[in-house]
Amino acid sequence: MTPPNTPGLFITLEGPEGSGKSTHAPRLAEYLRSLGRDVLLTREPGGTSIGDQIRSVLNDHANAAIKPSAETLLFCASRAQLVSQMIRPHLERGGTVVCDRFSDSTMAYQGYGHGLDRSMLLSICDFASARLKPDVTLLLDLPVEIGLIRRRHGKGDWNRLDALEVDFHRRVRQGYLELARQEPSRWIRIDAEKEEEDVWSQILQAVTSRIGSGKDNC
Ligand code: TMP
Repeated sequence: MTPPNTPGLFITLEGPEGSGKSTHAPRLAEYLRSLGRDVLLTREPGGTSIGDQIRSVLNDHANAAIKPSAETLLFCASRAQLVSQMIRPHLERGGTVVCDRFSDSTMAYQGYGHGLDRSMLLSICDFASARLKPDVTLLLDLPVEIGLIRRRHGKGDWNRLDALEVDFHRRVRQGYLELARQEPSRWIRIDAEKEEEDVWSQILQAVTSRIGSGKDNC
């Protein structure tokens, strides 16, 4: 049986809407490349041609009738493709992966947000990822009201999930904080309410504290 984890380094960024992941993930990838690491930058849902098609279905306002169980399986289908096609091969070559969202998003959004059974979700996520777990997860945390305002006025599209009620997003945030409490050795909370440069310094410090800052650590 393939061991769940690999020689490479797997970093994920998680957080509620408008937390700045899509700004900071490329910056982090660039920084890690400057240390000589071979970095794959990717995101969920998406990251493969099949995953990008699934992403369009999931984000489309016309699909408001989608059931939480169907939504879960679509997110996990995108993840299964991304892990086996891109992430695992890269990690097995000793590379570094920076991924904007992973299984923790399913636990936070479908588990805490929609209230689906979390032990069942864990099994589905394990199946989709073949039990691959991030080495480090950065939680970009901020009050949901601020995140949603940033999201509405930001560059990204206002998608089907953004449009769910504020209480849904509050449950998602609380879910993330709970997940981080349960596994402090993997998660690092970043105060994402701060200005962009301040958030970046926190990320840099967090990553450096976990992996070191020199080429020796590659
Ligand atoms: P974003 O990554 O551009 O924020 O858009 C992805 C949306 O999908 C976001 O609202 C979070 C949501 N999502 C889930 O609900 N479950 C998942 O498993 C993943 C990966 C994302």
